[in-house]
Amino acid sequence: MKRKLKVGVVGATGMVGQTFMKLLEERSFPIQELRPFASENSLGKKIDLQGTSWPVQVLKEGCFDGLDLVFFSSGDDISKEWAPKAVKAGAFAVDNSAAFRMDPDTVLVVPEVNGNLVTKDSKPQIIANPNCSTIQLVVALKPLLDKFGLEEVRVSTYQAVSGAGQGGYDELMEQTSNHKDDHQPKTFPHTILFNCIPQIGSFNDDGYCSEEVKIMKETRKILGQDKLKVSAFTVRIPALNAHSESVWVTLNKEVSRDQVMATLSEFKGIVLQDEPKKSVYPLARDVSGKDPVYVGRVHRDPENPKMWLMWVVSDNIRKGAALNGIQIAEQIFFS
Ligand SMILES: NC(=O)c1ccc[n+]([C@@H]2O[C@H](COP(=O)([O-])OP(=O)(O)OC[C@H]3O[C@@H](n4cnc5c(N)ncnc54)[C@H](OP(=O)(O)O)[C@@H]3O)[C@@H](O)[C@H]2O)c1
Repeated sequence: MKRKLKVGVVGATGMVGQTFMKLLEERSFPIQELRPFASENSLGKKIDLQGTSWPVQVLKEGCFDGLDLVFFSSGDDISKEWAPKAVKAGAFAVDNSAAFRMDPDTVLVVPEVNGNLVTKDSKPQIIANPNCSTIQLVVALKPLLDKFGLEEVRVSTYQAVSGAGQGGYDELMEQTSNHKDDHQPKTFPHTILFNCIPQIGSFNDDGYCSEEVKIMKETRKILGQDKLKVSAFTVRIPALNAHSESVWVTLNKEVSRDQVMATLSEFKGIVLQDEPKKSVYPLARDVSGKDPVYVGRVHRDPENPKMWLMWVVSDNIRKGAALNGIQIAEQIFFS
């Protein structure tokens, strides 16, 4: 029988936090105690889980005492300050923010890809959950890396508004229902309705935005390929949920399409949907609310026989955040 755990969720009322609750319920995650944390605005709210109502709390000294595990999903600054305190209190801190991802002393984990970095023998520590766009990309790349080797990866993303949290989701819904031309965007730099915005985060001097830099650096770290050429271009689109990516991947050798398809379809966590002539390929609307990473439209570049194109879609709040975090916890406590 699985040991019941005392679990904290920081950011329990947010997009990722609410999905944590859904998944803890769906997966019958054994909970002895839940401590949901949010901002002062949420004081008085209760979170229902597995038949019990747990009052929302605010963070304060000693708030993690006695917990086994704390999921963090409320931004970089809060994680920076509070995740080390959770570990000091004896808990594992699984962090959805970007605060520790590139810290050389912190593991950055996608269980299907480098899950060996956390085991039942691991000691309480911060474990970083990668960026949502990175997670689905590395799941699709890992079997190709293991079987054929990777020379270069290029990715262009089409990211849903839920990736910007509740504020992003509400902004598109509001613009959709109040369809005028005088929108005052708050979460996004421009009106997102009927638009595509080639900016996610802030720009560096090389012309890359922060989301692109995260994908490039985190992909190398998770795959353990320091020298892999990775180039990313990220775009926000008016999809509500689930991120889509077009990926150009150059393998180290020339292989057949059958070999590529077999390699992808055999990998845990990937579902192939690839009958393009029947208009069958993964779609954000269908993938939203599902757990796997969906791959389709796999075809070879006519100019370079080692280069393959594919379309990769996954729920950014499930596999891209909460599900990946819960899978990390399951690996530590129940493997
Ligand atoms: N959305 C995604 O696809 C996604 C994917 C991967 C990673 N992430 C990361 O996950 C984190 C949360 O994202 P989200 O999309 O869930 O954002 P969100 O919907 O804006 O939720 C933010 C959460 O943080 C809470 N919060 C704000 N200030 C707080 C404070 N001082 N103390 C405790 N809690 C506080 C909010 O509580 P109130 O409700 O009380 O304001 C809310 O629960 C971010 O680091 C984000 O980068 C998001």
